[in-house]
Order: sequence, then structure tokens, then C-alpha cells
Amino acid sequence: MKVTVVGAGAVGATCADNIARAALCEELVLLDIKEGLAEGKSIDMMQTATLLGFDTKITGVTNDYSKTKGSSVVLITSGIPRKPGMTREELIGINAGIVKNVTQNILQYSPDAIIIIISNPMDTMTYLALTSSGLPKNRVIGMGGVLDSSRFKYYLSQAIPASPNDLKGVVIGGHGDTTMIPLTRLATYQGTPVSSYLSEAALKKVAADTMVGGATLTGLIGTSAWYAPGASGADLVKSIVRDEKRLMPCCVYLDGEYGQKDICLGVPVIIGKNGWEKIVDFNLNDDEKALFAKSADAVRNMNSVLKTL
Ligand code: 2OP
Repeated sequence: MKVTVVGAGAVGATCADNIARAALCEELVLLDIKEGLAEGKSIDMMQTATLLGFDTKITGVTNDYSKTKGSSVVLITSGIPRKPGMTREELIGINAGIVKNVTQNILQYSPDAIIIIISNPMDTMTYLALTSSGLPKNRVIGMGGVLDSSRFKYYLSQAIPASPNDLKGVVIGGHGDTTMIPLTRLATYQGTPVSSYLSEAALKKVAADTMVGGATLTGLIGTSAWYAPGASGADLVKSIVRDEKRLMPCCVYLDGEYGQKDICLGVPVIIGKNGWEKIVDFNLNDDEKALFAKSADAVRNMNSVLKTL
């Protein structure tokens, strides 16, 4: 099994690191346009192999897509990251050109690959990768919901307080500060509703903190976060390469599901060897449905910018 990560910045490299540590594939290619960056980070990671005990072979390449040939899964992290005060949406002009180009290059050498989009604005980049490539919809997956749900569970664990591993929770909708929807009603602490432990005000704060989770980190660090985004990408790869059929919130093409068409947006899906295999209906209540429709409007609005580029 071969996996490629495009973009050897902090997110791409962390993704590759997590994939190698979990031995999710035999061959891992890290590609970047910056001369030497992917090679250097790959060698650094390979020098941890005997320390960590993995035997994935990581190869770094500068813009040589022929080396990615035959990849089963490709993660696209390329593009500029957020600076403090920037929204993910502000990245669209630059990142759209990059993501379209990368997708074309990848498919030239790996026509059967499943593509995972991490680049921002993630919902629009997922839509762009799908529509510009003409790939079957199941093979293009946006990663945002996995990351946002992980942040949601972190904030729940802090508020209760509890171990994050005892929490279940899902964020659907867009991967934007105002478009994501943490489903507090459905979140559980070892199978019991989190509302048994947290007041409505506390739950609202958890949701609000989750929504600006990425922006908070950008403010603290000075650039986009990478540990959780990288680990989220690797978690998706795991469910694909091991055909785990996990239920994960991901950005996928909707064709009437959740009341939306011609848009990529975060919903719960089954992830397995064929990419996203099925959309699961969570039976949203009226309030949640209204939030989802609003999120779709905002993302659709952003997608319309693609036509002007
Ligand atoms: C984040 O939320 C980079 O979009 C990513 O941190």
C-alpha cells in the first residue's frame, strides 16, 4: 500500500509522521514544491524509525509527481495557512489554483486514488477537487469534521471534566468559524447525554469554543495548528486502508441528503476502502436543520467565488 501526502508544511509532515508511526502503509511519499523540504523532513522522520519501531519507507520529493505513482490514498495539505485574524475563507484565491493543479498532477499518476482534502477553505477545496477532476464522489473526502469533532470532545472533556476518550461527539456543517455545527444534543459521556453533566450555558460555551478552535490556536501560535489536523488526516487514512467502516463526520458531496444538493459539506459518513461509502442520517431536529441550511448557504456562497477566479 502506498500513500502520498502533498505539502510538507507542518500539517503535511505531522500527517506523514502519524501515518508512519501507525504503520498504515509500506510506502509513504511526501511531496512539496519547496526544494529539499520534503526530502529533509522525510529523512528526519526515517531517522525515528528505529526509535519508534516502524518500517514504513518514507520518501521526500520536490514536485516530482512521478514518484507518487500508484498511490491508493493521497492527502492534499498544500496552500497557504491562516495568519492570526484571517478566516479560512480568505485563503480561497490562492489555494484554489494550488489545489486544482495538485489534484490534476496526482490523478495523472494515481488515477484510482482516494483524495483527502485538508487545504482551506476545506469545504470549497473539496468541492473544487471533486468538480474539477470529475472523480466519482465517494473518492473525494474533506477532513474538517474529524478535526472539529476532536476539538469538540476536547472542550467537552475540559468542561465536565472527563477523559476525552470517554466522550463521543460530532461536528457537522462547514469547517468555518461560523459554519460548523457541534451537535451538543447528541454528544455523550460513556453513553449518557452530556447535558446530564453540563448546563445549557456550559454546553453553549463548549460549542462556541469548538467553532473558533482553529482561530484560537492561530492566535496563540501565529499560524495554523498542525498536531490535531495532521492526526485527523491520519485517522481517516487508517479507516480507509484498514477498511474499518468507521462513522466519521467528513465533508462529502451531497445529492439531496440532509436537504442539500451540489455542495460538499460535513455530514456523518462511513469511511472504508472505497472512500466514503454511505451517508448516515442523524435525524436532525428543526433547530439543527436550520443551522445546517444556514451553513450550506454560507459555503455555497463561498463556492460561487470559484467561478470568478
Ligand atoms: C484548523 O482548523 C488548519 O483548518 C485547520 O486548524
